[in-house]
Amino acid sequence: MTEPITLNVNGMDYSVNVDMGRNLASVIRTEIGLTGTKEGCDDSECGACMVLLDGQPVNSCSYLAMQAQGRSVTTVEGVLTADGLHSLQRNLLEEGGVQCGFCTPGIIMSARALLDRNPSPSEEEIRIGLSGNLCRCTGYAKILAAVVRTASGD
Ligand code: FES
Ligand code: FES
Repeated sequence: MTEPITLNVNGMDYSVNVDMGRNLASVIRTEIGLTGTKEGCDDSECGACMVLLDGQPVNSCSYLAMQAQGRSVTTVEGVLTADGLHSLQRNLLEEGGVQCGFCTPGIIMSARALLDRNPSPSEEEIRIGLSGNLCRCTGYAKILAAVVRTASGD
């Protein structure tokens, strides 16, 4: 049985009818149509589904959509600036931190949350901040370089 809920995503309210057991990732992608958030493991292991809830990174595959009511949800689509790509996105591209790209939205959300709470993280702090995000392609060094570059203000 479905119930009406309202979710605030990237500053806009969306009214959707969902099964109370639906996870947030699925609702964001299917009901709201924001497909930047990826579903990989569906088990809180890979971080591909990472979104921010009131600024805190959350694996949206393991979070009920109904629990996000009244909270502010930010997806990778909400990271874009008025000028286009966020510096984090641009640096990931320029440093070669994007290959297949499946992990990239989750990496961006975790890095964004890290830089919001700690604008000058050490490399160790960046590694810890991204420890919930798996990437099968890049070997992580280029992702790390992109976050370091973003933290430097580039
Ligand atoms: S899909 Fe959510 S952690 Fe992997
Ligand atoms: S770029 Fe392919 S999984 Fe990270």
